[in-house]
Amino acid sequence: MTASDALSLALGMPKAELHVHIEGTLEPELAFALARRNGIALPYADEAALKAAYAFDSLQSFLDLYYACADVLRTREDFRDLMLAYLERAAADGVIHAEIFFDPQTHTARGIPFATVLDGLDDGLAEGARRWGISGRLILCFLRHLSEDECLATLAEAELHLARIHGFGLDSSERGHPPSKFARLFARCRELGKPVVAHAGEEGPPEYITEALDLLGARRIDHGVRAVDDPAVLDRLVRDRIPLTVCPLSNTRLCVFQDMREHSLPRLLAAGAKVMLNSDDPAYFGGYLNANIRAVHEAFHFDTDTWYRLARNSFEASFASDAEKAAWIARLDTYFAAAR
Ligand code: ADE
Ligand code: ZN
Repeated sequence: MTASDALSLALGMPKAELHVHIEGTLEPELAFALARRNGIALPYADEAALKAAYAFDSLQSFLDLYYACADVLRTREDFRDLMLAYLERAAADGVIHAEIFFDPQTHTARGIPFATVLDGLDDGLAEGARRWGISGRLILCFLRHLSEDECLATLAEAELHLARIHGFGLDSSERGHPPSKFARLFARCRELGKPVVAHAGEEGPPEYITEALDLLGARRIDHGVRAVDDPAVLDRLVRDRIPLTVCPLSNTRLCVFQDMREHSLPRLLAAGAKVMLNSDDPAYFGGYLNANIRAVHEAFHFDTDTWYRLARNSFEASFASDAEKAAWIARLDTYFAAAR
């Protein structure tokens, strides 16, 4: 089988997405439609002007634009429409399960009630399950540029809605905001019986990965691509089977790697790390999960076994039940058996 046959298989294979920010799926068309619906002016003349601003040189340069665009999200219906638009694209890429980040503080800081955000996202998840049979869960991410006390106040609000929050994460500006800043916050999340994840080793150093594991109890590391800079950290991730939710297009668009061919993904795979592919903020970084697969294919020409492993890791690393995981992996195996 050639690498391009393997690519076709990878595009069609069933897979899970474990690292996508719902606010990062806001396409320019929807942003302007919501701005019109809500009578808000975006600081860009039109969709083309907004897209022209998608030239990032760092995580922060992206986050500034991402938070500004989120201002168009105001009503329960807006959050529902955003979720549905993502699920439609994800399902078209073969995603059958998604664990989706949302950033409530981005919205509550603007006076949008927590329940409006959650109800709308949940409406979208229910409708997406009906339309496309895709399963989705929500992971609440705390913004690490805020104080731990602000995050604890958000957690207190989240505790009123725990049945609809599957886990907790940590995102936003990594440099200067180490995991150690949030040890109390995540101790409480764990007390609530929820799995914890954290962005670490994206722009920040490998020590932030160690802190996320030791001080936050993270069960997956989001990005973690800089683990290759410290062999001891990488060894530990491999030994303890800690999944890394890798986002290739994000990493090149935010200049974590200057070129896809420099990405650490092949080194992580060669070391035996439990990695899978994800889209992070697909509206801003050039595409959804299959666009990431295409970009990785062009750089590395992975074989069928490697694509199988990436998809299998995506299911194994999810926070779904063992029965759900087994059913999804059986579906993956059937797909590959038929195609080989
Ligand atoms: N929020 C949205 N995308 C992010 C990323 N790639 N890193 C940190 N915070 C984020
Ligand atoms: Zn992310």
